[in-house]
Amino acid sequence: MIDSENKSFVQRCITPDCHAEYKLEDRLYVCSRCGGLLEIDRLEDTALDPASLRELWRTRRASDDTRDRSGVWRFREFLPFDEDTRIVSLAEGNTPLYDAPRSADYCRLTQLKLKHQGCNPTGSFKDTGMTAAVTQARKLGARVVVCASTGNTAASLAAYAARAELVCAIIVPGGQVSHAKLAQALDYGAKVLEIESNFDSCMNAIREVSEDASIYLVNSINPFRIEGQKTVAFELAEQLEWQVPDHLVLPGGNLGNSSAFGKGFRELLKIGLIARQPKITVVQAAGAAPFARFYSDPEQHGFVNEEHPKTLASAIKIGAPVSWQKAWRAVSETGGSVITVSEQEIADAKALIGRDGIGCEPASATTVAGIRKLVADGAIKEDETVVAVLTGHLLKDTDYVMKYHSNTLIAPDKEQIASNFGNPVNHAHPVKSFLDRITGT
Ligand code: F0G
Repeated sequence: MIDSENKSFVQRCITPDCHAEYKLEDRLYVCSRCGGLLEIDRLEDTALDPASLRELWRTRRASDDTRDRSGVWRFREFLPFDEDTRIVSLAEGNTPLYDAPRSADYCRLTQLKLKHQGCNPTGSFKDTGMTAAVTQARKLGARVVVCASTGNTAASLAAYAARAELVCAIIVPGGQVSHAKLAQALDYGAKVLEIESNFDSCMNAIREVSEDASIYLVNSINPFRIEGQKTVAFELAEQLEWQVPDHLVLPGGNLGNSSAFGKGFRELLKIGLIARQPKITVVQAAGAAPFARFYSDPEQHGFVNEEHPKTLASAIKIGAPVSWQKAWRAVSETGGSVITVSEQEIADAKALIGRDGIGCEPASATTVAGIRKLVADGAIKEDETVVAVLTGHLLKDTDYVMKYHSNTLIAPDKEQIASNFGNPVNHAHPVKSFLDRITGT
């Protein structure tokens, strides 16, 4: 029997020689003693039995309770909220885990699975974190929720803020957010400010103003965001009948998602729900790759931000990732890696994922591009089990898709991207000859 009431959590600084502890009600984003990142620590006051937990979580899938219908709140034994908390939910999570045979062939793998976080209510993985962060905002009595964003956090926060009837203010880099993402934020009623700079400047600007007690910052520096996002590791493990893959591969931008997966698998291992952790590999676009540079030589230079990040995968055009220490822990603890892929590799992998009938936005395709490289280099063996996390929906950036298929996609360095798997719209063919041509008759 699981007693869900009997759980307790604190906020704790992750800096090894600090580890300062704070109450959940303390409205903090970093440690007030040393400035380090904070994470939620689950105090081990209850013996949770893995078999009972599996059964409980499985049973909830047949329930109509709002919390049970959410792929995040279904795992609430591991979330830092009381049973009677008024949650802000849009039935997030419960996303599909697809077999992707064409993408597997492309990577020269026997099998590849794609965990599609783009199938969340606002079309990206951000919703799994936002449900927790906005629930915490309401609990703290915040009036205004804010974030800086390359687009998806904006769309997600705007939706959850609307559900919670909170004022929502969003800062975005001018001209660098896809129309689809901006349109979502506007339609959900958020107030959007464009700054003529990049994401990292937007992030700095919003951190400065969020000291005000009525304002709550929900970028992934916020540890409650990470709590929601970590449940994707739980859901994935459950979908795989608690047998984790050899490798989990995901894109890296601000590095909140990698941190969340690391925390999720760590907690599952600790409680005995899984027997080992997957190797976590983070893939960055070559033009926005400070984490990959750090990985290649962690002792030598320390972490150096990328001052002018460049990539058409606008979601991950980030040079100063706020959560890099947590993501580093996830990668190093699991024996994973951090690699880069080129604009051409991203574009081709994205088209291939589309051919599996799945599709994703450009940032998500770094995963399949990265896996292909890792298999070619021998770092992933042909018969190993691999899951790639697709973070955003295909419809998030249709401008990119149309340009790729019409052979007009230009990389930031002005190089033309070859449309290797292009599928242009046809013109000026009578219907009969068009059909004859594509059927080969
Ligand atoms: N993929 C997509 C589609 C994203 O939107 C993001 C981040 C990432 C990957 C990278 O995830 O930051 O946790 O490493 N988007 C943020 C935003 C920054 O503002 O929407 P991360």
